[in-house]
Amino acid sequence: MSNRIRTFEEYKKEYQFSVEKPEEFWAEKASHFTWKKKWDKVLDWNFEKGESKWFIGGKLNITENCLDRHLATRGNQVAAIWEPNEINDKEIKLTYKELHSKVCQFANVLKSKGVKKGDRVCLYMPMVPELMIALLACARIGAVHSVVFAGFSASALADRINDSEMTIVVTSDGSYRGAKAIGVKKIVDEAIVNCPAVKNVIVLKRTGEEQKMVAGRDTWWHDEIAKVNDQCAAEEMDSEDPLFILYTSGSTGKPKGVLHTIGGYMVYVDYSFRNVFQTEENSIYWCTADIGWITGHSYLTYGPLLSGSTTIVFEGVPTYPDSGRFWQVIDKHKVTHFYTAPTAIRSLMGFGLDPLKPYKLDSLKVLGSVGEPINEEAWHWYNDNIGKGKCPIVDTWWQTETGGILISPLAGITPTKPSYATLPLPGVQPILVDSEGNELKGNGVEGNLCIKFPWPSIIRTTYGDHERCIQTYFSTYKNMYFTGDGCKRDEEGYYRILGRVDDVINVSGHRMGTAEVESAINEHDFVIESAVVGYPHDIKGQGIYAFVICDKKGKTDEVLRTEITAVVNKIIGPIAKPDKIQIVSGLPKTRSGKIMRRILRKIAEGDVSNLGDTSTLLDPAVVDEIVNGALVALKS
Ligand code: PRX
Repeated sequence: MSNRIRTFEEYKKEYQFSVEKPEEFWAEKASHFTWKKKWDKVLDWNFEKGESKWFIGGKLNITENCLDRHLATRGNQVAAIWEPNEINDKEIKLTYKELHSKVCQFANVLKSKGVKKGDRVCLYMPMVPELMIALLACARIGAVHSVVFAGFSASALADRINDSEMTIVVTSDGSYRGAKAIGVKKIVDEAIVNCPAVKNVIVLKRTGEEQKMVAGRDTWWHDEIAKVNDQCAAEEMDSEDPLFILYTSGSTGKPKGVLHTIGGYMVYVDYSFRNVFQTEENSIYWCTADIGWITGHSYLTYGPLLSGSTTIVFEGVPTYPDSGRFWQVIDKHKVTHFYTAPTAIRSLMGFGLDPLKPYKLDSLKVLGSVGEPINEEAWHWYNDNIGKGKCPIVDTWWQTETGGILISPLAGITPTKPSYATLPLPGVQPILVDSEGNELKGNGVEGNLCIKFPWPSIIRTTYGDHERCIQTYFSTYKNMYFTGDGCKRDEEGYYRILGRVDDVINVSGHRMGTAEVESAINEHDFVIESAVVGYPHDIKGQGIYAFVICDKKGKTDEVLRTEITAVVNKIIGPIAKPDKIQIVSGLPKTRSGKIMRRILRKIAEGDVSNLGDTSTLLDPAVVDEIVNGALVALKS
């Protein structure tokens, strides 16, 4: 199956066609798959109602397209390579045939637990092949997977389990990450105390750490698979049936469950994977993201498997046993396509070039970047030292809600430009608008990035609350999907993402809502009020800066900071840990009580010379106090 753009000219033609005749364009892309029944209509949409439906009436199962369809031609080809945390432990290779058999087997386990089409299944697991197997097993029987990144705390896990009414959790006893072994099941146990609906927990043995198994609820993965066979017919699903829910942070409230459906997601993820990465028959593709994030869903699991590639699942971290680990894995498995985040590149840059010396990196053909803007310095380091100037870098812009990459170079086909995501993929119609929603036409403009026409993997709803979906994405600007990102279109028409324009911060490529972090901080008994903003951070891209008003009750700032950090860890997880906590006596507020975040952002950035007009504040003197305290905090 070719289905791939080969030249810049072809890209331009295909783009033009996709805008003029989107339905014909996507119908052709969809025709390459196995459908149990062809769709009746390609598209129905209404952005005012936050609705997009693709391949309406079509029946299929995505796992038949990821697995069964390949068995005749590449059954013995390796589908997934698992590279364990310990450098000297043996990798596991699963061929398409083996993966198929394991997926069917676990699908039967889920069925034996009473899981049916439409039920939500929580997967809270480390990066082991069984996570990919469990995910596909859900899709096999029509259950909806909801992977929760195993770095989230018990309380964050419980919120997600309850929000999407999940009754079964698949987990592991523990996990290995670098030099640490982490208890995973015990976090699940703690979470489930607050999730009365959970009836079953299936536990994979990974670390061998002793477990308290709750009778009638907890069973071992290995015991369960021993009871079933590996034959499981793929459930016939509607194109618009849900495939998965993935929680992501927004500017207000608790994280929302972004819901994607089967047909459109499959078609778009496959098309974007092939075209952006330009994989070939023998490519060895490695995406370093965790399966718990959208990148791990779309471009570690579904995209590579749909296109019949070999994908790597890496359990470890970039700096263990040393900071050459990524490069060692690339040489060991002869990786051709390497996809990682700018934060990883920046942190590895910090170790200099010595860790690279033992490695050739000569198998590499394409490099990718995702999750946050890549600064020019990191781009050049990646290009020069990892790609040796020979590998195109695809800077891929997209979001959990978009399901797949929307703006990116196509490797080796369309031009690249440091720190630019460059051009939209065919089928994607970006538009820049000013704050009133007026279109900014032509080139050399900067504004808010929206998309004016649906693409097949667009978000369908936020689980259990469609109104929130409409409010967040479809109501800011009429008849457009609003991304929340600021963006520039340069004189040549290339797009450069400038970062979020809402109260969302991007820490090491992970989205955090400032409101979410504030509400965790406010759980500390002594905290009266807090305000969280992002500030530029050399490695993480953005760091979390918290301004907190406390009733100190004799405690020192140092003690309060430690305690507040512990509360955030407990409520969200270590990824939300504030980098700076400044205890303040007041916050800059307008007379109507609104916190002036613009001022706090400037202070956090260390840009205190130009704070704008502070005379309208309720208490202008508070700004001086915060500035003085911040100068101390920023030095620490
Ligand atoms: O701000 C953009 C940034 O990450 C946000 C999406 O986060 P999430 O849903 O967690 O998905 C991350 C992986 C797709 C976007 O709104 N972002 C993502 N990719 C890029 C980026 N910013 C700049 N350049 C990118 N390539």
